[in-house]
Amino acid sequence: MAAKSLDYQKIREDFPILSTRMNGKPLVFLDSAASSQKPRRVIEAFEDYYRCRNANIHRGAYRLSYEATDLYDRTRARLAKFLGAPDPDTVIFTRNTTESLNIVAYSWAMNNLQPGDEILVSELEHHSNLVPWMMAAKKTGAILKHIPLTEDARYDLDRLNEVISERTRIVSVAHMSNAVGTIHDLKTIGRAARQAGALFVVDGAQGACHLNVNVEDLDCDFYAISAHKMLGPTGVGALYGKREILENMEPFLGGGDMILTVSRDSFKPAPLPMKFEAGTPNIAGVVAFSVALDYLNQVGLENIHSHEVALLEYGLEEIKKVEGIKLYGSQDLANRGGVISFLLDGVHPHDIGSILDEEGVAVRAGHHCCEPFMKKEGISGTVRASFYLYNGPDDIDALVKSLQKVRSIFKMPAKKAQR
Ligand SMILES: Cc1ncc(COP(=O)(O)O)c(C=O)c1O
Repeated sequence: MAAKSLDYQKIREDFPILSTRMNGKPLVFLDSAASSQKPRRVIEAFEDYYRCRNANIHRGAYRLSYEATDLYDRTRARLAKFLGAPDPDTVIFTRNTTESLNIVAYSWAMNNLQPGDEILVSELEHHSNLVPWMMAAKKTGAILKHIPLTEDARYDLDRLNEVISERTRIVSVAHMSNAVGTIHDLKTIGRAARQAGALFVVDGAQGACHLNVNVEDLDCDFYAISAHKMLGPTGVGALYGKREILENMEPFLGGGDMILTVSRDSFKPAPLPMKFEAGTPNIAGVVAFSVALDYLNQVGLENIHSHEVALLEYGLEEIKKVEGIKLYGSQDLANRGGVISFLLDGVHPHDIGSILDEEGVAVRAGHHCCEPFMKKEGISGTVRASFYLYNGPDDIDALVKSLQKVRSIFKMPAKKAQR
């Protein structure tokens, strides 16, 4: 089905924060890769929950609690459908992608890896998809290996066989890079992981917000997401996992809700998904997340992605007109989402970020939780502008105009006329 063009200006009206002003200027929000803004109906669902529906779930012998439980469980079913997971019980609510990946590291990796086993990641990963594996490697004697990267920040799949072996037990990669926007070829990596007999883990923090995901089709063992990057609230995430793997894993946290029975000295864990959901969860957040999923479904992920790619194309063209811009990431738009990562001739990214902020333009400056990648590039960080369904060419124009201001503040000479 051909993608429909988005009426981003109309969409923008649904997001109250986007009509506010920053430093006296209209807010130009270009940091959705860090966290998306929230539509009014998500904010209202959150408030409505506390105003009219608040009760703890799975416990109360009264109607309010039954209804809260029903709302919570219905979100799980909706999310399972959103991710293409055949069984809602295989979708576990967590706090965020970070916690989801830590569940795999603690409950699977730390209990199954042997000294000399290998975990395959890359230098482009977010710290959330690196540090848990480093901790698991330290605990078990496993070894961390890295998929080679191409010059333009893609996984070098031609060299995958240099790093994957029969010792590889886990391959954990991002769906899309938050630092430079590369969308990775998960099918090829997943196939290689399966051939090696390794678990295939996907950090979907930047995936499910921009791209249609079908975990069954990807045939991944785990897929981790954060609601706050998908128009939903902070403090809610999820981990999809294959049933047989989840069932054979140890629980992550112990406490209420995750047990079937407890005796004086021991316990039996509850069946999925409760086994991995100890304690009172973020019920209001989960309920509001359901509304965010509806919103994304209504707009359509394929429409969102093609809107972002069109913006990316325009953005790259325009930003290249600013003299001294150095761009990071792939020039192949077929494998790239709405992220522009750049530097401006010798100006520190934080200085650029501060000047842009004065103009109301919100971008991220720094290593974007991808320090190994920045070190590999020999830089301390970049400036990152990232797009979502509510951004338009006017936001790019504001960004480019503000970058010209950075040039003038730093007294950088104007572009010489071509002879
Ligand atoms: C690719 C990627 N992975 C993991 C994370 C961590 O997400 P969270 O902070 O919601 O756990 C992020 C957040 O920016 C990300 O972009």
